[in-house]
Amino acid sequence: MPGVSLDHVKIFPSGEPFVTGAASLLISFIREKLQQQEICTVVLAGGNTPRSIYQYFTELPAEGQPDWKRIHFFWGDERTVPPTHPESNYRMVAESLLNHLSIPESNIHRMKGELPPAQAAEDYRKQLHQFFQGRMPAFDLVILGLGADGHTASLFPGTTAVKEKEKWVTEVYVEQLNTWRITLTFPVINHAQQIVFLVAGTAKAAILEKLMNLVEASPTLPASLVKPETGEVMWLLDEAAGRTGFPGDSGPSKKVILPF
Ligand code: 6PG
Repeated sequence: MPGVSLDHVKIFPSGEPFVTGAASLLISFIREKLQQQEICTVVLAGGNTPRSIYQYFTELPAEGQPDWKRIHFFWGDERTVPPTHPESNYRMVAESLLNHLSIPESNIHRMKGELPPAQAAEDYRKQLHQFFQGRMPAFDLVILGLGADGHTASLFPGTTAVKEKEKWVTEVYVEQLNTWRITLTFPVINHAQQIVFLVAGTAKAAILEKLMNLVEASPTLPASLVKPETGEVMWLLDEAAGRTGFPGDSGPSKKVILPF
């Protein structure tokens, strides 16, 4: 993979413009999907970057809101903590998004971080198997973050999960964090129609630059293995993250004709 193709990169000024710009693009994808089909399946990223974007979803004017009842929410990964724990990705999404919308419980497909890791992974596999009726999960939209070490979801460099080719979801011991995580695997992520990375802050500039200049995908930089079979990858960056990874000092805010 010759680095990240600039064609699918949009750079926003840092702060509010990144939040509103990224949120608007994600919502436009979802609304477009809901014009074509009854429901939309969305995999949510954890961590901090998406929080303000999820919050913004709830602040959109009524006419700008999608029909949330037709959206099914999944998680890309989860920490092995209860849903009430401050580190829980579920809790972050509940606080920023779910608690503010009337979304049927049956639309929320939570990774049960409170279970022992292998059991949590097996439980999620069963949830996916049931929802997708035994077929490989084909998510409409997968939202991902990017760690400064190149991880995405909980697919960290040097972990077994990065090489997983069969399982849809797996428990993984992350040496670097001295903790277990639950994560979707690349086979499922790469089976999605639209993948959107949300990357903000100067701390991500170096890894983004590395990613852009990569000659070929490498498990040492797991995010480079996000290569959807037929779908698209979009990178939504703020200037702080995108500045050094692109030619020119401020980086091109390339006009991106979004594929959605
Ligand atoms: C998690 C995420 C993880 C995250 C990146 C970026 O559970 O933490 O899934 O992959 O997206 O680490 O995190 P920030 O947005 O906090 O920088």
